[in-house]
Amino acid sequence: MNRLMGRSALITGAARGIGAAFAAAYVREGATVAVADILLDEAQATADRLGPSAHAVHLDVTRQDSIDAAIALTRARAGGIDILVNNAGVYDMDPVSAMTRASFDRLLAVNVAGTLFTLQAAARAMIAQGRGGKIINLSSQAGRRGEALSPIYCATKAAVISLTQSAALDLIRHRINVNAIAPGVIDSDMWDHVDALFARHENRPLGEKKRLVGEAVPQGRMGVPEDLTGMAVFLASPESDYVVAQTFNVDGGNWMS
Ligand SMILES: NC(=O)c1ccc[n+]([C@@H]2O[C@H](COP(=O)([O-])OP(=O)(O)OC[C@H]3O[C@@H](n4cnc5c(N)ncnc54)[C@H](O)[C@@H]3O)[C@@H](O)[C@H]2O)c1
Repeated sequence: MNRLMGRSALITGAARGIGAAFAAAYVREGATVAVADILLDEAQATADRLGPSAHAVHLDVTRQDSIDAAIALTRARAGGIDILVNNAGVYDMDPVSAMTRASFDRLLAVNVAGTLFTLQAAARAMIAQGRGGKIINLSSQAGRRGEALSPIYCATKAAVISLTQSAALDLIRHRINVNAIAPGVIDSDMWDHVDALFARHENRPLGEKKRLVGEAVPQGRMGVPEDLTGMAVFLASPESDYVVAQTFNVDGGNWMS
């Protein structure tokens, strides 16, 4: 407890799923948390559940003016920004033979450009403050290898690993640690969407793919968002001050690297 006492965190895509679990964990550890999401009403409901240390912020990571406004609001409300979690992400299923430019543009805009330019804006604020910081990006096991049905998503999550490394090497001289988490299969709204897409592409009943991927995890089950919070707190805390440019698998044993 209290490992993030007095810290100000902004978590993107925090209205639900993994981001909402991170927000709850950070509040429990003493941080003030900006619950930032494109879905403002849901972000507000999440922040209300977490109490006075959480506040909702409207954020569309594909728009620079929205990123700048969210960072400014976070700094104004909490006296600065110490932690950024780049968690907002979107998924689509589009094999190479059928993919569209629209899907490519949307996934790149949110997962890659959104991550990069939110990281840049937060890093600039952290440098100006002069007290270091922690930046955590959400990659995926999908960033470790290709998948026949989701090449664009895989490419965006591989890009997150690479951007994490480059940004970390640039920013560590400012005492800003940049690292990433690569979750495996985590039960969330995103996986309900993935399951529905598999059902259509592979002609399966709804829920079957989810059950099968859970059974295939060495630990024997799908993850839940709370399975990731220990790593997210560690990477935001002083305990990780000498951890730089890494991507950590938290996946029940799915991937080894
Ligand atoms: N669920 C998994 O199995 C899994 C596995 C590996 C990695 N991830 C990654 O973890 C992150 C969170 O995943 P999740 O499962 O909680 O997803 P989710 O779909 O449940 O939640 C994602 C959140 O991001 C928000 N969002 C989407 N576009 C946005 C935008 N333009 N600006 C701001 N917010 C936006 C959504 O409104 C939503 O609240 C994503 O980056 C995802 O790629 C998830």
